[in-house]
Amino acid sequence: MSNSDMEKLVDTSEEWIIERTGIKERRIADESQAASDLAYEASKIALERAGLQAEDIDLIIVATVTGDMPFPATACFLQNKLGAVNAAGFDINATCSGFLYGLYVADGLIKSGMHRKILVVGAEVLSKITDWDDRTTCVLFGDGAGAVIVGPTEEDRGILSMHINSDGRMWDLLHVPGGGSRNPASKETIDKKLHYIKMKGNETFKVAVRTLEELVVRTLEENGLDSSQLSLLIPHQANLRIIQATADRLKLPFDKVVVNLDKYGNTSAASIPIALDEAVASGRIGKGDYILLEAFGGGLTWASALIKW
Ligand code: COA
Repeated sequence: MSNSDMEKLVDTSEEWIIERTGIKERRIADESQAASDLAYEASKIALERAGLQAEDIDLIIVATVTGDMPFPATACFLQNKLGAVNAAGFDINATCSGFLYGLYVADGLIKSGMHRKILVVGAEVLSKITDWDDRTTCVLFGDGAGAVIVGPTEEDRGILSMHINSDGRMWDLLHVPGGGSRNPASKETIDKKLHYIKMKGNETFKVAVRTLEELVVRTLEENGLDSSQLSLLIPHQANLRIIQATADRLKLPFDKVVVNLDKYGNTSAASIPIALDEAVASGRIGKGDYILLEAFGGGLTWASALIKW
C-alpha cells in the first residue's frame, strides 16, 4: 500500500509521510490472514536455512500484539501448522520490543541449558487493529513476520548481552483500549473504536529518541565496545528520524544502519527479524561482526541485543 493510496483514505500527503516518517510503502495482509499465517511462512524459511526439522524445535516464542485470538497463544497455532510436536509454545506481548524480549527469554533458556532449539518469531497483522480513518496512525503501520532459531554454540560468538526495560507509567502513550478485560468487546466499544491503536505520536517520539540514545550507549559501554567496532545497527523501524538520532548519538555512519521502513512501515515485533533477514541475505553481516539490535514500543518497553555473528 503506497503513500498515494493513503492520500485516497485520509487527509494526508505523500510529502508529509516521507518527510515525517521515511515510510513510502507498507505491506497489508490478506483479509483471511492472521498472525500465525505470516509466522508460519517466516518459520519455514528459518527452519530450512538452519537445516532443521520442525520436530527439532523444543520451544516456540511468538512476539505479537495481533495474535490470531485472545487465546490460545499464537505460538500454539504456529506449532500446529509447523508440526513442531516436541515444542512448548507461548506468546510475548511487549509491542515493538517483543522480538527482543523473546530473544532475551530464549538467550536465558539456552544459556541455562533448559532448551536447545528455540524458534523466536515476531509476527504482526497491525492492519487489523489500525483505524483507517485516523491519519495520525494509519500511515505508520504494516504487516509482516520474521523468525530466528536460537541454539547453543561452543564458538566465541553469539548473543553477548541483552537488555530489556519497561516503564508502565507511560502506558497511555501507545495502546489499544478495547477488547481486553478493562473494556471488553461490546457494541459500545466498537462504536467508540476502542479496538484500534491509539498513539500520542509526538510524545512517544520524544521519549523514544531520548531512551534509545541512552540504551545504545549503555549497551556498548557494558560490553566494553566502541561504536567504531560495530558493523551494523539494526533498529526497530518506527520512524527514520528516530533511527537517525540513534545513529548520530553513536556517531555511526548511516551505511552501517539497516533501514527498510520505507518498504514496510512499522511492523512492530516483526521489524527487527525482517531487517536482520534482509541484512543477512544481502551479505551485510559476516562472521565475527558485532551487530546491535534495539527497539522501543508501547508499555513503554525498550530493549537491545549485542550479537557477535
Ligand atoms: N498527514 C498529514 N498531517 C498529519 C498526519 C498525516 N498522516 N498525521 C499527523 N498530522 C498532522 C497533525 O495533525 C499535526 O497537525 P497540527 O499541527 O495542525 O495539529 C501535525 O501533523 C504535527 O503532528 P505531530 O504529531 O506533532 O507530528 P510529528 O512530527 O510528531 O510526527 C509521527 C508524527 C507519528 C510520525 C511521529 O510523532 C512518530 O513517529 N512518533 C513515534 C512513533 C513511534 O516511535 N512509536 C513507538 C514505537 S512503535
